[in-house]
Amino acid sequence: MSAELILNNAKIVLEHEVILGSVLIRDGRIADISEGLGSGGDDFEGDYLIPGLVELHTDHLEGHYAPRPRVRWNPIAAVLAHDAQIATSGITTVLDALRVGMDEDADMTAEEMRKLGNAIEDSVNQDRLRADHYLHLRCEVSAPDCLASFHHFDGDSRVKLASLMDHAPGQRQFVNLETYAYYYQRKLKLSDHDFNLFCEKRMAQSAENSAPQRKALSDLCRERGIVLASHDDATVAHVEEAIEQGIHVAEFPTTLEAAAASKEAGLAVLMGAPNVVRGGSHSGNVSARELVEHGYLDILSSDYIPFSLIQSAFFMSETVDGIALSDAVRLVTKNPAESIGFDDRGVIEVGKRADLVRVRVDEHIPVVRTVWREGRRVV
Ligand SMILES: [Fe+2]
Repeated sequence: MSAELILNNAKIVLEHEVILGSVLIRDGRIADISEGLGSGGDDFEGDYLIPGLVELHTDHLEGHYAPRPRVRWNPIAAVLAHDAQIATSGITTVLDALRVGMDEDADMTAEEMRKLGNAIEDSVNQDRLRADHYLHLRCEVSAPDCLASFHHFDGDSRVKLASLMDHAPGQRQFVNLETYAYYYQRKLKLSDHDFNLFCEKRMAQSAENSAPQRKALSDLCRERGIVLASHDDATVAHVEEAIEQGIHVAEFPTTLEAAAASKEAGLAVLMGAPNVVRGGSHSGNVSARELVEHGYLDILSSDYIPFSLIQSAFFMSETVDGIALSDAVRLVTKNPAESIGFDDRGVIEVGKRADLVRVRVDEHIPVVRTVWREGRRVV
């Protein structure tokens, strides 16, 4: 690691303000921040310097590993391709989401998820990766194999977050059966008759498995110090259940009511960055923008488009009244870092990790020009 690096003439996005100045990096940490024009070092020519983004829920790795039905890519190559897109999107810390509990939507197995987890672990240890990688286990509690699959990750210290989700028809994201039909009947190409049978099966699985697995998983996560997230909470009752189970992050609440109750209970409310950029939810739920306007939103996540994370921060500061760039950047840096207990990153401050991104805004799109992780250039 290089001993010293100076970044000059940058619009530095601090926690609550933007200043024009320079940053000194020493031994991978931020050693000094000073205001005014400097000379020498790396001249930013007025570009922005923001903290490296922190991503809690990306589903993006799966597509590299299983690019077509029944096609499988080498897991290490898949991790490298995913990592490259993550880093060039300005993300320096990422929780890669792996499925635990397979519903019909997945044509993958628990063993394959473990294989991807191993490819990440091995790649971290061999210093192949640009971003700092951890795991987020997406636990489909309605699936019969959820708890058993979770045990494939026993003793894996890379797991930082687990979300408890139930995608059976009639539940949460799919309270409305028409939305469910739109999503699954078309995707699985089922006749009306077969689709009805499918729904009955999924509802029976949820009735049998969801409550006991939710309880068992939340107990296990508390014991292991894994932060818990609820998923697609729709009602105050869902939020009350989440509080009882020690949930800390409310992922993708589907209604204003659930987001308000989560916020009031001190949960960190997370929404999708694609929802911000697209101007609404793809499944007809509450919009992230509405939550921001009510002051309920804490964290954004790129979900299925890595680049949406940085895009949403700049887009929001340009389009939402009362949201300055520093406010929007906190949603993708400091807040997600804090929610999983990482207090060494997510903000440009003396002593923090030099995880940094140089950005120039062009045609309203943030162009990621350079990325450093612990002072080392990775993009
Ligand atoms: Fe969902």
